Amino acid sequence: MALVAEYIYLECLNKGTMLQPNQTIELNIHDLGMEGEGIGRYEGYTFFVPYALPGERIKAKITHLKRNKNIGFADLKEIIEPSEYRVKTPCNRFGRCGGCTLMHLEYAKQLEYKKKNVENVLRKNAQYVGDVNDVVPSSPFAYRNKAQLPFGTVNGKVAVGFYGAGTHKIVSSTKCFLHGEWLEKLIKITLEFANEKGLTAYDEQTKKGLLRHLVARYVGGQMVVTIVINGAKLDGANELADRLEKEFNGVAVYLSPNTRDTNVIMGSTLIPVKPTPQSITVMGITIDVNPFSFFQVNDEIREKLYKAVIDKVAPDKDTVVVDAYAGVGLLGAIMAKRGAKVFNVEIVKEAIDDAEKLYKANGIASSVVNICGDASIELKKLISAPENDESAPQYSKFQQCIASGKKVKIILDPPRKGISKEVADTLNELSKSLAFDLIYISCNPATLSRDIANLTMFTPIEVMPFDMFPHTSHVESVVCFTRRLDNELRERMN
Ligand SMILES: C[S@@+](CC[C@H](N)C(=O)[O-])C[C@H]1O[C@@H](n2cnc3c(N)ncnc32)[C@H](O)[C@@H]1O
Repeated sequence: MALVAEYIYLECLNKGTMLQPNQTIELNIHDLGMEGEGIGRYEGYTFFVPYALPGERIKAKITHLKRNKNIGFADLKEIIEPSEYRVKTPCNRFGRCGGCTLMHLEYAKQLEYKKKNVENVLRKNAQYVGDVNDVVPSSPFAYRNKAQLPFGTVNGKVAVGFYGAGTHKIVSSTKCFLHGEWLEKLIKITLEFANEKGLTAYDEQTKKGLLRHLVARYVGGQMVVTIVINGAKLDGANELADRLEKEFNGVAVYLSPNTRDTNVIMGSTLIPVKPTPQSITVMGITIDVNPFSFFQVNDEIREKLYKAVIDKVAPDKDTVVVDAYAGVGLLGAIMAKRGAKVFNVEIVKEAIDDAEKLYKANGIASSVVNICGDASIELKKLISAPENDESAPQYSKFQQCIASGKKVKIILDPPRKGISKEVADTLNELSKSLAFDLIYISCNPATLSRDIANLTMFTPIEVMPFDMFPHTSHVESVVCFTRRLDNELRERMN
């Protein structure tokens, strides 16, 4: 009997079934996961431990087990042997605010880790066998041009901060190392105003309280501030704008009423308090900055990334560019300025309206066709329209460009969820009858690798990661493709 019990006990140990949540275990970390968590093995389980680093021996407390997949999650409790690449973080909120997941890792190692992660996921999901370039580095601090901070109540006073990792609890904060000093000043002025006026912060439980989010964008020395409120007005808003003006000359200030119970931060309308027009110039294109406009969050890397894409496209008067997820069409506008004919496809009506204004204001309206719609549908229409269809001239114009012998370049810059299977299929089909270059800008290596696998008629020839988001696990990548047909032809000729 004792032998049987011992056998069962050993079997359980082997399968890790003796492991329980709240148990403290000691393990070696050998890798970093996609979210920046340390990965270690223990009794047949793969454990993910946030804030642990490869090369470390740690104590961790089990939080959750997925027994059917032999996967576990644990909280770091003690570092027994630290990694030589662990650094002291400058931020005293690190580990609590949930914004940074890699600040404890030396910056050069963060870049190595991101490159390896892109490589691994492309090898595994897309059978990519080529090289991945070194990650283009960013200034590691004060790089973010946008902040969206929830208001909350701390010790009876209005505070702003960040949601704690995986929670909706406010960790109050007066500065953030990812943003410049501008954020510290903005927070100070806003909180002094709110507390002097006895304003209240929105409470997600009771749905009461006025101040919901402090949203700001600081690009090229110009500031746009939006206070999202759970109501229709903010008494003293003009006074707040005056105080902000003293610190940020030429600031624009808006209110955005949002009384809905959702995770969407901005309301759908804006109340101008001080609507100072704001604009910046990006690679020769002047563009308005307003609370709804989409910009990459890191100016330095956005510029390097756009330059890399433009170098690859080499736009001139003999080029036609399709930007299939165009936003306000900034990338296309830079190419139109260099002579290219541009077709922007974008699903958000407001963004396409802004694109119209952008091209007009920059004197390049005749070089663009802005199409509002889903890329899954619009791309198909673009490639299959007849050359002279007066009922749908926007699509015919693309056919006319092809007929006139222009070089075709297609750019995909989708949101994190990537492109649809329809878009991949459309491009696969088009590649059989038309030679064109394809460039994909991705902010999510996982969906990028799935999409590469779906783009069966294309071979990736260059993968260029950019560190748009230092101290987080995120990475932006630009992938250039060649048509399989061209590849095969080249091989046959060699
Ligand atoms: C990552 S942003 C790219 C913006 C732009 N390329 C830039 O650099 O500023 C992705 C854009 O794709 C748009 N989008 C999302 N789904 C789409 C779809 N199915 N068809 C077309 N556009 C879409 C979003 O509204 C957003 O503007």
